[in-house]
Amino acid sequence: MDEYVTLNYKGETYRLPVIIGTENECGIDILALRRDTGLITFDPGFANTGACKSSITYMDGEKGILRYRGIPVEELAEHSTFKETSYLLINGRLPTAEELRHFSIMLNDHSLVHEDMKTFFQNFPRASHPMGILSAMVNALRSFYPELQTTEEEINFTVTRLLAKVRTMAAMSYKISRGHTVVYPRPDLAYCENFLNMMFNTPVKPYEFVREVVRALEVFWILHADHEQNCSTTAVRVVGSGRVNLYAAISAGMSALWGPLHGGANQAVVEMLSDIYRSGGDYRKAVERAKDKDDPFRLMGFGHRVYKTYDPRAKIMKKMCDDLLSALKLKDPLLDIAKELEEVAVNDAYFIDHNLYPNVDFYSGIVLRAIGIPTNMFTVMFAIGRLPGWIAQWKESMDDPQWRISRPRQIYTGPSETHYVPMAKRKGI
Ligand code: ACO
Repeated sequence: MDEYVTLNYKGETYRLPVIIGTENECGIDILALRRDTGLITFDPGFANTGACKSSITYMDGEKGILRYRGIPVEELAEHSTFKETSYLLINGRLPTAEELRHFSIMLNDHSLVHEDMKTFFQNFPRASHPMGILSAMVNALRSFYPELQTTEEEINFTVTRLLAKVRTMAAMSYKISRGHTVVYPRPDLAYCENFLNMMFNTPVKPYEFVREVVRALEVFWILHADHEQNCSTTAVRVVGSGRVNLYAAISAGMSALWGPLHGGANQAVVEMLSDIYRSGGDYRKAVERAKDKDDPFRLMGFGHRVYKTYDPRAKIMKKMCDDLLSALKLKDPLLDIAKELEEVAVNDAYFIDHNLYPNVDFYSGIVLRAIGIPTNMFTVMFAIGRLPGWIAQWKESMDDPQWRISRPRQIYTGPSETHYVPMAKRKGI
């Protein structure tokens, strides 16, 4: 039975249809609101706004549920690989053995980047942040690979090429930033191994694969692969809605991800934990500062727009952190501080009242440190992981029958009509 919400305004009654998703999420359809009533909605930060219908990712922030194409992220973290999860997100279902084999071959075949791109990398100032380099280079891919992206075949080709090259470009930017020789991708290695080899292999010390490290990277990327309409994904959809090419839309998503309130939080968490460690380990002071309304400091890696309970990804990440450090026989003082800080925060009335729990970034930086990733590359690692999600969301938006260019309205609060004053008559300027 169709459901409606009734709106009474200036003596008139309007019926607004209710849309219901497959998991019983409900939304008011306001497509005709302005046309019929002259009203718009006001929702800064879009906290109550559904911008699209999507069949990719489901999350329930109250229950701590996250599923890609219906499959719980916990199951994917246990059984899947990043490559398979990418296929799932982009194509809507798990691949057959033959489809996965073909996908692997395509990823390997397109993993080289144009040699001319190396000069771009080399000419960025030494202190450039790798996220700035990566987003610029992804945008530049369009100049190197300007083929049309119109038919399904062309789009699939571009998508696979992007997945393959971003991993190479990320490792390349790291090598060049260190003044090391670039390591080329190897066709005999799987997606994660290839990345680790390109990052850490040197002519004097060949990289030795450790099973637990490879698996940790696999799980890290699976956990980051999609998260429905977050800030960077919305950037991809909004920029993509102007029908720009895929590279430009993904580059916009990368720029959005860079911020410390979003994907940059993994770097910010480790910097925060390091500061606490350097200043004697008093994590309680950080908790007190985060509660002080006169202090802009926030506990990085805590809180989430959607999760009002423990982020399910953070649970997996925390366990992985423990397992990885014990497998590598590593002791990281930042992990001890993180655990103590979490214990104090989750039992503190302020954090309980505000529903603030660790998010995916709280423990992910410690995992990345154990893998050997430098801190300024953390958000790049997130970006590689989020790539299949951005691609899936971009593809879905391109095929959306309700597609329209993103163009919100506003409530104007500036001056009413006023008139130009010639310079000679202006006073006090
Ligand atoms: N530390 C202290 N207080 C916090 C924190 C925090 N980390 N996060 C939110 N709050 C408080 C706010 O001060 C505010 O308090 P008030 O209502 O008393 O004024 C309340 O909780 C709500 O905060 P908002 O900023 O309105 O929540 P929003 O949903 O807009 O923001 C965000 C979510 C950006 C994630 C926020 O929790 C935050 O800044 N966290 C720290 C950064 C971080 O970890 N980001 C990663 C998020 S996960 C991801 O993007 C991959």
